[in-house]
Amino acid sequence: MRRIKEENITLGPWDSTRAEKLGYEHFMLKEIHEQPKALRDTMGARLREESVFLEEIGLKDEVLRSLEKIFIIACGTSYHAGLVGREALEELTGLPVEVDIASEFCYRNPFMPANSLVIAISQSGTTTDTLVAMRKCKARGAKIIAITNVVGSTVAQEADYTLYTRAGSEIAIASTKTYVTQLVALIMLALQVGLVRKTVEETRLAQLIKGLHALPNQLEELLGQASPIAELARKYASHEHIFFIGRSLDYAIALEGALKLKEISYIHAEACAAGEFKHGTLALVTEGVPIIALATQPHVFSQTLGNIQGARDKGAKIIAVAKAGKDELGELAHHLFEIPATHRLLSPILAVVPLQLFAYYAAVERGCDVDKPRNLTKSVMTE
Ligand code: M6R
Repeated sequence: MRRIKEENITLGPWDSTRAEKLGYEHFMLKEIHEQPKALRDTMGARLREESVFLEEIGLKDEVLRSLEKIFIIACGTSYHAGLVGREALEELTGLPVEVDIASEFCYRNPFMPANSLVIAISQSGTTTDTLVAMRKCKARGAKIIAITNVVGSTVAQEADYTLYTRAGSEIAIASTKTYVTQLVALIMLALQVGLVRKTVEETRLAQLIKGLHALPNQLEELLGQASPIAELARKYASHEHIFFIGRSLDYAIALEGALKLKEISYIHAEACAAGEFKHGTLALVTEGVPIIALATQPHVFSQTLGNIQGARDKGAKIIAVAKAGKDELGELAHHLFEIPATHRLLSPILAVVPLQLFAYYAAVERGCDVDKPRNLTKSVMTE
């Protein structure tokens, strides 16, 4: 029996299936570890020393200048990427941005100005709900840009423009590496639109470009610290309910963390905007209930701290994820994971990693079929 040891992960017996997984126990773990490369490939020559270059999309400057509104439509993890994209686009382009779950968007009738841009995000490029929503927008005269990982997929074919993520194939049903590449694609797109519309200040551009360049190495650093997360996931794997809270972009990450955990470990995981928690969900907190609290967003840090204190007072066990140097949180949380310093719009790309690893190790501990969770398929082609 051959065993290999890498980044504190002991890998099991060697066979041909395992070879496809490059020695990892599951595709999901392999794909989590491929995230630094996926980011490098997605940024590639699109991200240079001082700016972003997305001419390949073919979006003309006149089109970008005349935009009145942006809509983002997607499902599941891609929708969660859209929530982060909304904030980046609003902040960098000054345009109003709506983000919607594709299956909901199909059956409502939002006001859509003539110069609307619709961003359809779909890893597979074949999700029916996203396609139906896209077709509805197209019929109303909107321009569609697809963000997808699959070259030539239906979403790419039907869109007016395509920005490909370059995550490589993702086999595990739980999306991991495609999610972080969607985030980077959205931020680069927001920068491109903002540069054309002259709504991005130079300092902010420089900070974001520097931050984007640093991400792959920072992800490697985080992945090298998987052991304590694995240990913690095993400790809490027997719980049947775990809550995730966060404000602003941390709420978007909380939603993604909860989805990852529930879909592969079958633990009931629920995300709540931290400020909203006390308006109902707090009633479910009893002694020892684990809460994963995201606190990476500086502009809402003190408010989040107050919400964490409120949950702790009711007996919750707090597992916090924050940027390094937050001593107040260190005292309040039972466990604290620190992510490297970065721009607030980029921190979801780092903060999601401990959540992916937590979900993965909790699912393994519970003996779940990590790569193929029950009832789910990689591409959902029904409405
Ligand atoms: O291929 P898509 O991005 O359109 O898929 C949408 C969702 O089905 C997908 O993101 C799903 O939520 C994830 N695989 C869950 O991890």
